[in-house]
Amino acid sequence: MKKLFSKIKSVKGELSFAGDKSISHRAIFFSSMSKGKSRIQNLSLSEDVKSTKKIFEQLGVKFSYHNSELIIEGKGKTGFNAPKNFLDCGNSGTTVRLLSGLLIAQNFSSTLIGDESLSKRPMQRVIEPLQLMCGKIESTNSNLPLTIFPGNKLKNIEYTLPVASAQVKSAVLIAGLHIQDDTKVIEKFITRDHTERMLALPIENRDNHKIILSSEKYYPEPKDYFIPGDVSSSAFFIVLTLLSENSVVLIRDVSLNPTRTGFIEILKHMNAKILIDNVRYSSNEPYGDILVKSSDLKNIVIENDIIPNIIDEIPILSVAGVFAEGSFEIRNCKELRYKESDRIKSICENLKMLGLEVQEYDDGFSIDGEIKNASATFNSFGDHRIAMAFSVLAMLVGNNSSVEGIECVSISNPKFFEQVESING
Ligand code: S3P
Repeated sequence: MKKLFSKIKSVKGELSFAGDKSISHRAIFFSSMSKGKSRIQNLSLSEDVKSTKKIFEQLGVKFSYHNSELIIEGKGKTGFNAPKNFLDCGNSGTTVRLLSGLLIAQNFSSTLIGDESLSKRPMQRVIEPLQLMCGKIESTNSNLPLTIFPGNKLKNIEYTLPVASAQVKSAVLIAGLHIQDDTKVIEKFITRDHTERMLALPIENRDNHKIILSSEKYYPEPKDYFIPGDVSSSAFFIVLTLLSENSVVLIRDVSLNPTRTGFIEILKHMNAKILIDNVRYSSNEPYGDILVKSSDLKNIVIENDIIPNIIDEIPILSVAGVFAEGSFEIRNCKELRYKESDRIKSICENLKMLGLEVQEYDDGFSIDGEIKNASATFNSFGDHRIAMAFSVLAMLVGNNSSVEGIECVSISNPKFFEQVESING
C-alpha cells in the first residue's frame, strides 16, 4: 500500500506507547517457561510479539485476557507439548533466535519457519553456539527452516559473542537455564540486556568485557509484569518533534533502559532539547517520561561502541542527520545489512531519491548536500523501521512525497499513523 504525505508543520500533545517489543517477547518466554500463572500489563501490540505468543500456544501454553492484562499459565521446563505443525516466526528474528535456545532443551522435534525476509536472515550465529552446547539443530544453508531434534544432554559453554547480538546472547542464556553448571556469555560490546534483567542473572566484568552467567538456578518463576512503552517506537516521534517548528511532545511511561537509549544520547549531543523525568522501575527495567521540543540539530561523530545500542534507530537517526547542520556519517554498522531489509541499502536508495549526495560503504553510509527533489516516492522494502523513518521524512518535506509498502509498520507499531494524527497540528 502506498501512502501520500502532506507537510506536517507542527506537532503537539502527549503520547504513550504499547509495551516494548523486546521486553514483551521475553515476558512471554519466561512466563511460559515458568510453572504457574503470570500476568502481563501493557504487552506490545506488534505482529512480532503476536508470532511469539502464537508459537507458545502451539506448544500448549494457555493465554487469556482479564481486562487488558494477559494471563499466562506457564508449563514449566519440560511441560511443553510437541507441536503438530511448523512453528511460524513470521518476520521476527527475536522469536526464532530465542526459541532455538529453548527448543534444543526439549524432548521433541520442532521446525521453525518464517516469512520471506526472515528466511533470508543469517541463523549460523545462533546454530554455532547451540551446537557447541550439544544441541541438535539443522538448517538449509544456515537459513530457515531450522529443525531442532531432541538429543544429548546439554553441556555448559563459555561463549564470546562474535557478533554484538542480544538475540544470540539470549538464545545461549535460555539454553543455559536448562543446564546445572554455569553457562557464560561474554560480550565485548554491550547489547540490550532485557534477558539478564528479567532473570536477574549475575554479571561479572573482566577486562572491560561483560560476562553473564546462566544455569538452572535462575530458571524463571511466575511473575506480574508491567512492560514499559516501546522506546524504539518513540524514536520516530522524538525526531519528528525535534525537526518540526513550534513543537512540544510529552512521551509517558516509556522504557529508559540504558542499552536502548543510545539514540537519545546522540540526539542530545546533536543539540536536541530532550528532558527525561519521573524515572521509575518495573521488573528491573527503568522507565519514565520524555519531553521533546523543536531543536536546531548539528551532526556529530558517532562512536563505534554505541552502535549496538542504536542499531534499531539508525534509520530514523539518518533522517535527523539529513536536516542537521553538517554532514552525517555512520560506520561500523554492517549488522544493518542483516536486519528486516539490508538497511544500509534501503536507507541509501531512499535518500538518493531526494537528490542528496549519499555514499554507501560496506559498513555504513554518509549523507551530504541539500534536498533537490522533495516529491520523492520512498520504498519501505517491507521493513517496518524503514517505512516509519521515511514516513517521518515524507511528513517533514511534504510536497506529496509518498512511501510504498507502509502496511509493514504493524510489525512493531500498528498505531503509528493514528499516533501521528493525534499530535498533528
Ligand atoms: C533484539 C535485538 C536486536 C534488535 C532487534 C531486537 C532483541 O537484534 O535489532 O530488533 O529483542 O533481542 P540483534 O540481537 O540481532 O542485534
